[in-house]
Amino acid sequence: MMNSILVTGGAGFIGSNLVEYLVNKYPDFKIVVVDSLTYAGDLENLNAVKDLKNFTFVHGSISDRGLMERVFHHYIVHGVIHLAAESHVDNSISEPDVFIETNVKGTFTLLDVAYKYWMEKPFVYKHGFENARFLHVSTDEVYGSLGETGLFTEKTPYAPNSPYSASKASSDMIVRSYHHTYGMNTVITNCSNNYGPHQHDEKLIPTVIRKALAGEEIPIYGDGKNIRDWLYVLDHCKGLDLVYDYGKSGEVYNIGGKNERDNNYIATKICELLDTLVPKETSYKNQITYVKDRAGHDYRYAIDASKIENELGWNADENFESGILKTVKWYIQKYKN
Ligand SMILES: NC(=O)c1ccc[n+]([C@@H]2O[C@H](COP(=O)([O-])OP(=O)(O)OC[C@H]3O[C@@H](n4cnc5c(N)ncnc54)[C@H](O)[C@@H]3O)[C@@H](O)[C@H]2O)c1
Repeated sequence: MMNSILVTGGAGFIGSNLVEYLVNKYPDFKIVVVDSLTYAGDLENLNAVKDLKNFTFVHGSISDRGLMERVFHHYIVHGVIHLAAESHVDNSISEPDVFIETNVKGTFTLLDVAYKYWMEKPFVYKHGFENARFLHVSTDEVYGSLGETGLFTEKTPYAPNSPYSASKASSDMIVRSYHHTYGMNTVITNCSNNYGPHQHDEKLIPTVIRKALAGEEIPIYGDGKNIRDWLYVLDHCKGLDLVYDYGKSGEVYNIGGKNERDNNYIATKICELLDTLVPKETSYKNQITYVKDRAGHDYRYAIDASKIENELGWNADENFESGILKTVKWYIQKYKN
């Protein structure tokens, strides 16, 4: 049987882009996706890979220990890339419970199943699983908020501000503890904001494009000056692949694109692209409106990615302007139908 890599959350935004990248790059590995298909997961995101021989989908939750044990045994899982999570900050403010359930408890369950399946006892891997590895995919939001200057490095102290980032920070700490206590081969990545195909309608960039095309008001929080460091999703996936293959066990790698943009710039840029690609009488910019700010809205996130660049040779292929053009074109097709 082929070696299997388990990708959790593979029907979501980043997961589905990653799976497409991996199944094509590694035809000799079986990519097993476990996804519970919450509102954020969509099997259509996996259309491009669903018939490939080295791809399998399992419908279920990472919090279901029995199911996870069966998946590890049945597919002889040799590696995990863990993306399954509740991921929308706004939802974590209105309904935090499920963020703790999935992001904290679910990560613990998955990690503990992997530990028991791969290892005989602390620091001793079972025969045949010596190279088994757990990559935990996390976010730069664990570091809190920045002022006008400064960058998040892997040494920045954690200061999560939302229930979402707090749940991700907790999961990072649990993964860290399994490395230090049990000698598990783990790596953690903390990435900045992603954008690109397959992102859920609720997130900023799809919302701007969707509302613009529908002729509706384009809602921007507060004064639109919040800054994020935007990374095209495929560049994130390439970074995950590098960290999975070459990252040092127990280490953390920040991934980010040196593409800080504020929400005003993003909304304006998208409207300008739409003005060219799907022109109408008046500019889409006239639809931009400002709405009440998100509670506890972090002002700025920005990543120092020099560790992954210097140690693993990662570099983003897209800048915001090249990535957003591809993205807008993709959503025009999606929302046209
Ligand atoms: N989107 C970003 O900008 C970004 C940036 C950095 C890190 N991340 C992290 O990357 C990961 C993926 O993010 P995304 O934007 O693709 O999220 P997403 O919300 O689009 O996808 C999450 C997926 O996980 C699945 N899922 C949720 N609960 C589950 C459970 N209990 N068991 C199995 N599957 C479950 C959902 O059905 C969905 O398919 C998350 O861990 C997130 O914290 C995201």
